[in-house]
Amino acid sequence: MSDTILKADGLKKHFHLGGGFMAETKVVRAVDGVSIEVRRGETFAIVGESGCGKSTLARLLMRLLEPTDGAIEFEERDIAGIRGRDLRELRRDMQFVFQDPFSSLNPRMSVGKLVGEPIETHRPELSRAQRRQEVARLLNIVGLRPEHADRYPHEFSGGQRQRIGIARALASNPRLVIGDEPVSALDVSVQAQVVNLLHDLKSKLDMTLVIIAHDLAVIRHMSDRVAVMYLGQVVESGPTDEIFANPRHPYTMALLSAIPEAAHGRARTRLALSGETPSPAAPPSGCRFHTRCPFAREDCATRIPELGPATTESRVACHYWQDIAADRPAAGLTPAAGRSEGAQRRFALYEAATQATTPNPKTAANAEA
Ligand SMILES: Nc1ncnc2c1ncn2[C@@H]1O[C@H](COP(=O)(O)OP(=O)(O)OP(=O)(O)O)[C@@H](O)[C@H]1O
Ligand code: SF4
Ligand SMILES: [Mg+2]
Repeated sequence: MSDTILKADGLKKHFHLGGGFMAETKVVRAVDGVSIEVRRGETFAIVGESGCGKSTLARLLMRLLEPTDGAIEFEERDIAGIRGRDLRELRRDMQFVFQDPFSSLNPRMSVGKLVGEPIETHRPELSRAQRRQEVARLLNIVGLRPEHADRYPHEFSGGQRQRIGIARALASNPRLVIGDEPVSALDVSVQAQVVNLLHDLKSKLDMTLVIIAHDLAVIRHMSDRVAVMYLGQVVESGPTDEIFANPRHPYTMALLSAIPEAAHGRARTRLALSGETPSPAAPPSGCRFHTRCPFAREDCATRIPELGPATTESRVACHYWQDIAADRPAAGLTPAAGRSEGAQRRFALYEAATQATTPNPKTAANAEA
């Protein structure tokens, strides 16, 4: 069995807007050439700020949207064009946990119906009594009680509704679950519970998890590998620990420096990116990040950087990542007077990024074990 469970190659989704009589069509390049590989059994995270195309990518991977271009493979099968029975099977093996626990559950259905419905669809061989048992088992797995089956969504808190959504997703025994910001809509303490639950369930149920979020802080504690997106493209990918310890792309550095203090317990200068995020309907030429990148050089506006290998495990899309890395101060070196203004600014950027890096409890726990 292959190590890779899900693979996308040059995946694109362009939305065409407008185009009425005399009107100009606008092309929104929501996902614009994304290649990723998710390994069996891992937690793979996709991060990036709002509007960078995370949900569109998730919907493409699930085949809830038709790609404009590119290939998708699930368990070594091309799924970009499948229909009918093949698609129904895919819907069983790959499940989606929705972003919003409030609008994604039908308020008129009891919890028993909500969780029972996908069981009926995907495992029609089960009798009514077996189905009821299975609902109880799933509610138990996600930390709810069997008697909750008779209640309705409005009787539950946000965190509990999220659990109902997870129970629903698990009903078909999926091998891969994609969670689109399953935690960001909830408050912090609930977030921690849901994150832990998903993480627990992943190994217990022998699944692969793809997690989508704005926030690198949430992802660091649960993901094995991460892909960072900017304006419809992946700018850096690799093992989460490596990327947190040694971000190579300037955008990843900026994202890391924006992690709120509470998430790592240290005071730190916050590094704000200059400028607005450009629109995916009019992405900048050359490197899409050049309008906001503190390291940009003249040719960044015209030359497109490819996502290429930085180490055996990680990839980065920046012409100058090696120069930027070489500019980093060696241990103990401070930004001495006499260094150029540019070097000092880069030092500050790097410092802000690496100060966000604290010991990872995931690795710490492993080390203790
Ligand atoms: N159906 C659609 N028609 C036109 N444009 C769309 C459509 N869906 C998404 N977009 C646009 O594509 C871009 C990417 O949207 P997407 O929802 O994938 O971003 P996201 O990264 O999930 O954002 P968020 O973090 O806010 O959820 C946005 O500019 C969005 O406005
Ligand atoms: S290619 Fe240039 S603009 Fe793009 S991230 Fe690298 S230095 Fe910045
Ligand atoms: Mg989204």
